[in-house]
Amino acid sequence: MSVHTEIKKVTTETFRKMKISGEKISVLTAYDYTMAYLADEGGVEAILVGDSAANVMAGHETTLPITLEQMIYHAQSVSRGIKRAMLVVDLPFGTYQSDPVQAYHSAVRIMKETGAAAVKIEGGLEIKDSIKAILNAGIPVMGHLGLTPQSINKFGSFKLRAKEDAEAEKLISDAKLLEELGCFSVVIEKIPAALGEQVTKELNIPTIGIGAGNQTDGQVLVIHDLLGLNKNFKPKFARKYLNLHEQIVSAVAQYVSDVKSTDFPNKEESF
Ligand code: KIV
Repeated sequence: MSVHTEIKKVTTETFRKMKISGEKISVLTAYDYTMAYLADEGGVEAILVGDSAANVMAGHETTLPITLEQMIYHAQSVSRGIKRAMLVVDLPFGTYQSDPVQAYHSAVRIMKETGAAAVKIEGGLEIKDSIKAILNAGIPVMGHLGLTPQSINKFGSFKLRAKEDAEAEKLISDAKLLEELGCFSVVIEKIPAALGEQVTKELNIPTIGIGAGNQTDGQVLVIHDLLGLNKNFKPKFARKYLNLHEQIVSAVAQYVSDVKSTDFPNKEESF
């Protein structure tokens, strides 16, 4: 008799059922094996290999510089750490926006080389043909509207989006379009909570909010923000569950002091 119990993977169907039952969906980013298995063990439904890797892993100001190869490397590492969560991978800037054929090839590379279950892409009507090309290949797509960081140079700042009626109306119509095209869910980032609630009510697919209030179908956070790894980055929408920045720096300082005093390694730690 096998001692192995099959762990049931979260799928797009799980997302669909959770929207219907009203159970909230929790999503976190991860970019490496260790964080992925910790997030998976903690019970998130999906792990997003976000292009925020450009910020938190590589120290870039924006998400624009990260390449498809770099996203694939991160996603492969994450994939090895996951048992249950659905793996979603961002298509990086410049790999899907203007050319549906390129979008198809970028998404296929992610699916073939990483074991991802879905890709995420930013935008609505403007990238309709790229979304269709990816969906036509049988690849599930998570949309992303509101503050879409790949368009930061167009926006000019990371401020709240869709405060004005015109932008809010476009966001609602883009969200409906994503649903009509066949996206299985949509991230809505940094928009008024009332708009987050309205979009959520108007869609049959789940909305995953980040800075969009608590009435969305789920939430996503960058894991580094939740763990308090960066002392200088405190977005209003992120809740710090730990203060790892302080704890890690003080652990390192203690190690430095122990090395200098020859307290480390002690007899038990030596051969
Ligand atoms: O890249 C990312 O981490 C994201 C999430 C914040 C939604 O897109």
